[in-house]
Amino acid sequence: MSSTTASTPLIFHGTFIHSNNPQEVEIIQNGLLVISPEGKIILLQRNIPRADVQTTLTDIPKIPKIPKLPHLPSLPIRFLKRGEFLIPGFVDTHNHAPQWTQRGTGRGLPIMEWLNTVTFPHEAKFADKAYAHRTYASCVSGFIRQGVTLAAYYGSLHGEATKILAETCLEKGQRALIGKCNMARNAPDFYRDASNAESLAVTQDVIAHVKRLDPAGDIVRPIITPRFAICCDEELLSGIGAIAAQNPDIMIQTHFNETKQEVAFTRELFPQFKNEADLYLHFGLFNSRTIMGHCIFPSDYEIDKLREHDVGVATCPVSTTTVETWGAAPIRKYLDMGIKVGLGTDSGGGYSSSILDASRQAYITSHARQTLTDGKETSLTLNECFYLATLGGARVCCMADKIGSFEVGKDFDALEINALVEGQIAVIEDDDPIGMIFEKFMMTGDDRNIVKVYVRGRSIKS
Ligand code: GUN
Ligand code: FE
Repeated sequence: MSSTTASTPLIFHGTFIHSNNPQEVEIIQNGLLVISPEGKIILLQRNIPRADVQTTLTDIPKIPKIPKLPHLPSLPIRFLKRGEFLIPGFVDTHNHAPQWTQRGTGRGLPIMEWLNTVTFPHEAKFADKAYAHRTYASCVSGFIRQGVTLAAYYGSLHGEATKILAETCLEKGQRALIGKCNMARNAPDFYRDASNAESLAVTQDVIAHVKRLDPAGDIVRPIITPRFAICCDEELLSGIGAIAAQNPDIMIQTHFNETKQEVAFTRELFPQFKNEADLYLHFGLFNSRTIMGHCIFPSDYEIDKLREHDVGVATCPVSTTTVETWGAAPIRKYLDMGIKVGLGTDSGGGYSSSILDASRQAYITSHARQTLTDGKETSLTLNECFYLATLGGARVCCMADKIGSFEVGKDFDALEINALVEGQIAVIEDDDPIGMIFEKFMMTGDDRNIVKVYVRGRSIKS
């Protein structure tokens, strides 16, 4: 058994809430959940009154296909009380780990100015391994505190620091996709890959290291991470595309149609491509394994391409509404077209490390789009926001077969919520129905209400 899992079976009885699809949130009451020592959900039953829990557990060994387990009825059971419930872990589909400590600074700047004056000087600090160790320890713990059980992380350009990020996630038990940023041009001398060849060699080295750390990819996996086309020339993008083709199991992430300044500059640098979809397609970086960050300004042609190639969208609404020329992604359109969508914090591009905040901002920006489109794009529902934070994010990361909802056979990546812990959450009244308690948590709760965080059955929030 791996040390990254639960080690003893876990048993929960009570309320479990998850998404079955973008529209439908299922509230399971009197649920019974059993998690194997390997961290897999091996039993999920609905409507088991508390008085019947022991009998049900006694009957479990008779259920076929369940591996040999210790005597379940003798194990402790976590009975969730009123106000307490389980939800799937939050997925952060777009996160710049090195920007952890710069969040909130440089608001209102256009993207290139923000990168050159705030972000690149800050990320350059990760040349120092001691700095990387302590900052990534704080970063990963910080996102775990917010209930992020899976993050798609951009590292800095440094190979060694990016390896430290992977080691930190593995040690702390946070599931993560981790990539070294490729950026060999349009960045300052002090923070740029020395050459295209070096950029590719470091990428290969980081991929090999992450695969060595966790060969099965149970917790950490590498992800190919060209920062964006502006920082890469044709030769580098071709090399990155070749790495993607050689490693069909590895995901890809970059920024896509994030700001008008970036779209215009990309056109100027790559006049042979009419748009960013054709550009990334040409280099083999636009497919069902790709996570495209932001996706604010794609044309209808590019949106069709997102769907045609089953590309995932990481929408980061806190980020996209707090830096100049950012905007609001057409999430309604994406969901209606069946395009995969999840939420991202974007770390320093935004200010908040909370997926709850991202979910609320997705709700707010979708309202704005409803007004701006004269009602053509209807605003998101709370159920859809919850889906984006959980199962939608799992789909974007191509892990919906493993995580994102409570199903027998999936891993137990979950948050134990206590809506009664006082903080900023709206007070729970004695006669509040469970649907209202869930709504209050989603709209007003915070990390104080996220009392436990599980990945593969292992409790990781300290
Ligand atoms: N485009 C290129 N790099 C970045 C980054 O670090 N953050 C955001 N939001 N956009 C980018
Ligand atoms: Fe970003």
